[in-house]
Amino acid sequence: MKGIILAGGAGSRLYPLTLVASKQLQPVYDKPMIYHPLTTLIEGGIREICLVSTPHDLPRFRQLLGDGSRMGISIEYREQAKPEGIAQAFLIAESFIGNDAVALILGDNIFHGADFASAFGHFERGATIFGYQVLDPERYGVVEFDGSGKAVSIEEKPATPKSNHAVPGLYIHDNDVVAIAKNLKPSARGELEITAVNMEYLTRGTLRVEKLHRGMAWLDAGTSTSLHEASAYVQTIEKRTGIKVGCPEEAAYRRGFLSISQFEEIANAMPRCEYRSYLQCVIEQVGRAS
Ligand code: TTP
Repeated sequence: MKGIILAGGAGSRLYPLTLVASKQLQPVYDKPMIYHPLTTLIEGGIREICLVSTPHDLPRFRQLLGDGSRMGISIEYREQAKPEGIAQAFLIAESFIGNDAVALILGDNIFHGADFASAFGHFERGATIFGYQVLDPERYGVVEFDGSGKAVSIEEKPATPKSNHAVPGLYIHDNDVVAIAKNLKPSARGELEITAVNMEYLTRGTLRVEKLHRGMAWLDAGTSTSLHEASAYVQTIEKRTGIKVGCPEEAAYRRGFLSISQFEEIANAMPRCEYRSYLQCVIEQVGRAS
């Protein structure tokens, strides 16, 4: 399975922060936001990634992540000239997707305590999306379930939500998604809607909605308040456990994408900083355990 990180958009709700640096490059406590979705894909076992962003911001992402080899993965880059919808990513990344299935994650979505390895690894066909219980479902795509727990509808930002299960920004689709995206018409707000793609799978009877367990956290960091809350959340967990949240190098090592010597080399090449000290601690712990 391949992975797409969609990290464009206008970021207007974070203005003026986003005047010079895109939303997904803003710090969430001690790391750039994009490290979180990147880590989610790596933890799930995805090694081939395409990052889609604006012509203005792509050079910054390249500077930050390079070709991905520092994280034992490969990263390709594609431009989205205008924010014309999440589903446009499938058209922009068509040549990257090739004949594979694809997991699309939004660059401002943070998942903690979830393990998507089995959702990615065991995926065969159709589409898998997730449902997460929130207090304010009207801000999101909302899934309605029937009595047996089967998804029966998805509505984008409904005034009267039929459940409190929002659809987070992580979607898994088989290769049909490219053809489905090609047939979409822009919505009233002029976007190719991801909900329309998922509705098509629902109509075909091949949409699976997995409820995320309530012990995990899903945060999106699109407003000043939610960005601040995400930072506070990451700081609290890191301070309590001593384990970094959203550390792609560590995830790549633990996934077997980097050998211990590559991991050590990468850590040693960093300037002296708290991030490097953390990686060196992980290396020491691994050394002691083996
Ligand atoms: P949004 O938060 O809905 O939009 P935005 O990032 O443009 O922010 P604002 O509403 O404040 O102007 O987008 C969700 C994620 O999807 C975010 O990471 C940006 C990304 N995105 C794109 O990259 N391209 C698009 O065309 C759209 C609609 C979103």
